[in-house]
Amino acid sequence: MKGIYPSKEFVLSANVRDPAIYSRASENWIEFWEDFARELEWFEPWYSFLDDSRAPFYRFFVGGKINACYNCVDRHAEKKNKAAIIWEGENGESRIITYYQLYREVNALSSALKELGVKQGSKVALYLPNLAEAVIAMLACARIGATHIYIFEGFSAKSAAYRLKDSRAEFLITADGYFRRGRLINLKEKADEACDEYGKIKKVIVVRRAKNEVSMVEDRDHWYHDLLSKKNTSPEVLDSNHPLFIMYTSGSTAEPKGIVHSTGGYLVHVYATSKMVLDLKPDDIIWTTASLGWITGHSYGVYGPLAVGATTLLYEGAPDHPDICRIFDIIEKYGVTVFYTVPTLARMINGCDISGYDLSSLRLIGSVGEPIDPETWSWLYGELGRKKIPLVNTWWQTETGGHVLSQIPALTPMKPASVGKALPGIEVDIIDDGGKKVKPFEIGNLVIKKPFPGIMLEINGDTSSYIKFYWTKYGKRVYFTGDSAYMDDEGHIWIVGRVDDVINISGHRVSLIELEHAVMEIPDIREVAAVGLPDRVKGSAIALFVVSSNPGKEVAEKITEKIERDIGKIAHPALIVFTPELPRAGGKILRRAIYEAVVNKKVSSVVSNPDSVEKLTKLKPSDR
Ligand code: PRX
Repeated sequence: MKGIYPSKEFVLSANVRDPAIYSRASENWIEFWEDFARELEWFEPWYSFLDDSRAPFYRFFVGGKINACYNCVDRHAEKKNKAAIIWEGENGESRIITYYQLYREVNALSSALKELGVKQGSKVALYLPNLAEAVIAMLACARIGATHIYIFEGFSAKSAAYRLKDSRAEFLITADGYFRRGRLINLKEKADEACDEYGKIKKVIVVRRAKNEVSMVEDRDHWYHDLLSKKNTSPEVLDSNHPLFIMYTSGSTAEPKGIVHSTGGYLVHVYATSKMVLDLKPDDIIWTTASLGWITGHSYGVYGPLAVGATTLLYEGAPDHPDICRIFDIIEKYGVTVFYTVPTLARMINGCDISGYDLSSLRLIGSVGEPIDPETWSWLYGELGRKKIPLVNTWWQTETGGHVLSQIPALTPMKPASVGKALPGIEVDIIDDGGKKVKPFEIGNLVIKKPFPGIMLEINGDTSSYIKFYWTKYGKRVYFTGDSAYMDDEGHIWIVGRVDDVINISGHRVSLIELEHAVMEIPDIREVAAVGLPDRVKGSAIALFVVSSNPGKEVAEKITEKIERDIGKIAHPALIVFTPELPRAGGKILRRAIYEAVVNKKVSSVVSNPDSVEKLTKLKPSDR
């Protein structure tokens, strides 16, 4: 397949346009990353680029002293007329915060946090919707050396409590409520429930957003606006490997894993990739549509764009409220230049009539989070991008902190739905289970052969899982991504999907084991298998195959309720099928056989009880 080259106009103004960047990075790997690092401000330089003596616990920029907030805010605060954040609420309110105002607000919150007892090393959980205050809270934590733990606002109280407990958070910043599809959601109530379940939160700060009535616990709860002081707080001089944040993600275990990211290495990685891949410049307005509560929101909604000195656009609510045109309204209204989104949203806008909009401000489109189908790719490129602007398909993970595979927009020809190549400074391969490189077009396991600055520090409190999941299959020097992929004869890569028990719904990782555990806690359930089925809009949809002593609507409702309560609405099952038994091989439940039966209408030959899947092959799409 021939690749599509970007326009000359784009190439001429791109941050990276010299193809020698690839060879330079592989020949002078350390210098390549150090050059980006030097563009940031360090209080003290590092003495060693990488300490790999405790592999796989890699440490970058060893000895360097840095502060992420200083690099994202103070450095640009002199530009008093420059927007750092453009915020739009679902109800149409909007707010523009300049770098100077951001500096003032972050200082004010930092000193308030200190007065409440937050110090370097404290853990502060943020259970917030996409509000400017959420960015301010992240940066205030970074300023004083507290590690932030963002909990996506859509998560249930139980999910939030798990994250509070696992991270040992002592402080929580939340909001009274927020708007989603025109409905007011009472977030404080969920936050209270999570705090009660965990029991160790000392102080709660509440942002007044929706002005709904909430109950405040005396001595524990404080209104955000009551706390702000006029004092400045100098940024803490932090070690490069000081934990900036913990981000929870699903893996092939029942419980989410707390991925811990560093300050220096992480910031260098997101800064470098914001420039190389998203081509960000200080004049850009980037709209990263992901919620701040996901890694994409952290890396390319906050730290990357602000480190570059660009403007980030935040939108509070559902992108299709009141209808899907909201997206084009926002791009047009603010003159968004870089639109970084997920295939699920792209599939929703695919086919929209955009002829009435002036979207000419757009100069780059990015996609992330799940495989994009060629049809949606073509619409994004051909219609939204008018075949004039590059479309980068970025592959990375919560664990990698920032981009790993992508086109470099001015250099790599685009092939529909391909994720391009490994970025300069990163080395990947596609290998079989025995570690042998597979041939072009053969599917194998995607691995990263060298550590890189954005790689996580560890899994919070779980050294053995960190080693087991990522650094055991191919040893301590080769990172196992958990994704399968193939490469064409020109080295362009296509992602096939996950190889473990994790599915991707609208770009969000959901662990099938976690789901099954939640369902098994319902008394009438004897057995359950969760399977991801293809879904045109969301990428995957959850199907549950259940053996129950009381099959029927009542139990199905209990299952849906339990999942929404324990995990959140993201995991809402699209299909619940009661079945007398589940397919097995050697006693093990075979989820793959269910998938084969439902999607491909085949009975797998390895199933020891084929009757169990025979019926499933007859399920019609309308049953879903
Ligand atoms: O399976 C890959 C998929 O998302 C997983 C990582 O999910 P998460 O940690 O939640 O981070 C999402 C945002 C970076 C990967 O293992 N994935 C990510 N980007 C792509 C993708 N699959 C296909 N194409 C992509 N561009």
